[in-house]
Amino acid sequence: MGRFTLQSGTDCSDRTTSVSSAGAIPPILLVGAGRMGGAMLAGWRERGLAASVAVDPAPPVPVEGAALVADADAIPRDFAPAAVVLAVKPQNAAAVLPAYRRFAGSAVFLSIMAGRTLGGIRQLLGEAAVVRAMPNTPAAVRQGVTVAVAGPGVSAAQRALCDTLLAAIGAVAWVEDEAMIDAVTAVSGSGPAYVFLLAELLEQAALAQGLPASLARLLARRTVSGSGALLAASEEDAAALRRAVTSPGGTTERALAVLMAPTAWPEAISRAVAAAAARSRELAG
Ligand SMILES: NC(=O)c1ccc[n+]([C@@H]2O[C@H](COP(=O)([O-])OP(=O)(O)OC[C@H]3O[C@@H](n4cnc5c(N)ncnc54)[C@H](OP(=O)(O)O)[C@@H]3O)[C@@H](O)[C@H]2O)c1
Repeated sequence: MGRFTLQSGTDCSDRTTSVSSAGAIPPILLVGAGRMGGAMLAGWRERGLAASVAVDPAPPVPVEGAALVADADAIPRDFAPAAVVLAVKPQNAAAVLPAYRRFAGSAVFLSIMAGRTLGGIRQLLGEAAVVRAMPNTPAAVRQGVTVAVAGPGVSAAQRALCDTLLAAIGAVAWVEDEAMIDAVTAVSGSGPAYVFLLAELLEQAALAQGLPASLARLLARRTVSGSGALLAASEEDAAALRRAVTSPGGTTERALAVLMAPTAWPEAISRAVAAAAARSRELAG
């Protein structure tokens, strides 16, 4: 197992990087202004973004905070980004990336494409400094968590810049072993879906207990989001917070006896994460 460092982010304020002053972020070239790219751009703007460019032929929401162009040929020739952020779909990488080779040598490439390895990206870009990162969708509300790994030739300053760019959407951790990204993808990349599934199932169970639909929805959503907020605000382990809800002989204890049976959630969550990690390894390239 390689080392990992928790570097910065919104939920670890003791180590948050000091990037909140205006103009703290140098010019960035964002390639793909979709859900993830758009969330990152919004986070950078809040922290003071220098004049930047976004490339996207048809962004799903209007791009604010960067000049929008439709393709790489339309980027002003004198634009010199400090970082090129690759936020297109992984399946588009081979078609899209070669047009950005001209920035290799002057800019660091920060890829958030799932499954695209440092080696695979460098094959498309040449001898580029590349950082690979795996964020997750709570990035949209600056509550994401991203794990990053730096490829060969990434300088300390380039790594610090990537850390700043990722910290704008949540917590950031760095690993030295790229193989860990498969497990990261399975835990935090896909993880929001597991939590949303819990909200869905809790709502269905509330309906089955005879609660009206609007109340079932309210209870399920607020229980999941409120518990997440409590966990985020607490120094305690999740297990300690769970025990605090569990009176001996009470209702929670009865429910947990079902959920915590070895073949119930412990096995299901473990198998689900292992299946996602295996799929991540299959897709890597
Ligand atoms: N969503 C997640 O949970 C998640 C988590 C971790 C990592 N990621 C990674 O984040 C990346 C972006 O995901 P997303 O959910 O933000 O996808 P998305 O909303 O589809 O955003 C991708 C954007 O890139 C645009 N695009 C397509 N071809 C382009 C080109 N040649 N040049 C510039 N832009 C182009 C797309 O336009 P069109 O829609 O018109 O094609 C779209 O607006 C993916 O690589 C994904 O693996 C996502």
